[in-house]
Amino acid sequence: MNAVSRLEKTLFRLQSQHACLAWAFERIADRPGPVIEFGLGLGRTFDHLRRHLPGRDIYVFDRVNDAYPDCQPDPALLFLGEIEDTLPALRDRLEGRVVLANSDLGSFDRDSNRRVAEMSSRLLPPLMAPGGIVMSDLPLALSGFETVALPPGALEDRYYLYRRTA
Ligand SMILES: C[S@@+](CC[C@H](N)C(=O)[O-])C[C@H]1O[C@@H](n2cnc3c(N)ncnc32)[C@H](O)[C@@H]1O
Repeated sequence: MNAVSRLEKTLFRLQSQHACLAWAFERIADRPGPVIEFGLGLGRTFDHLRRHLPGRDIYVFDRVNDAYPDCQPDPALLFLGEIEDTLPALRDRLEGRVVLANSDLGSFDRDSNRRVAEMSSRLLPPLMAPGGIVMSDLPLALSGFETVALPPGALEDRYYLYRRTA
């Protein structure tokens, strides 16, 4: 049996995500530019993003829209389908401009996690502004980025933070 229960895994991930979001909001407060959410899910992190980043364009991606009715993104900034398929059309609009990306695509399926981590690692770097922050529920291998120490309240290996250096 695992040392950590599924309840604790979820709890630790969300606690760490929340702490990383708070940290990122402060870092981008005076940096204009769009935000990306990979993985709308039920819309929980999207709801948090829009409350803390009023007026900011938040581009949201998922296969399907399963978000709570009161957590619906602007339809003009919601892109449904496989991210690999929907993102390329936005490349001109987003390239080098994104100040914060939250990649929240993980599940309890290891193979899927490997695939989506590889995908985010490949697709995010060209979109990010210099100094742009990537948050992820899975470890990523981002070319031209440094790993950032987690803020207080976030637990090691439950969420990951990166910043574009090059
Ligand atoms: C952990 S959930 C996101 C949770 C969400 N951020 C929230 O707070 O409610 C992961 C989501 O990623 C989506 N997803 C995973 N891989 C994807 C892919 N390749 N393309 C589009 N969506 C994907 C799934 O459909 C799922 O809704």
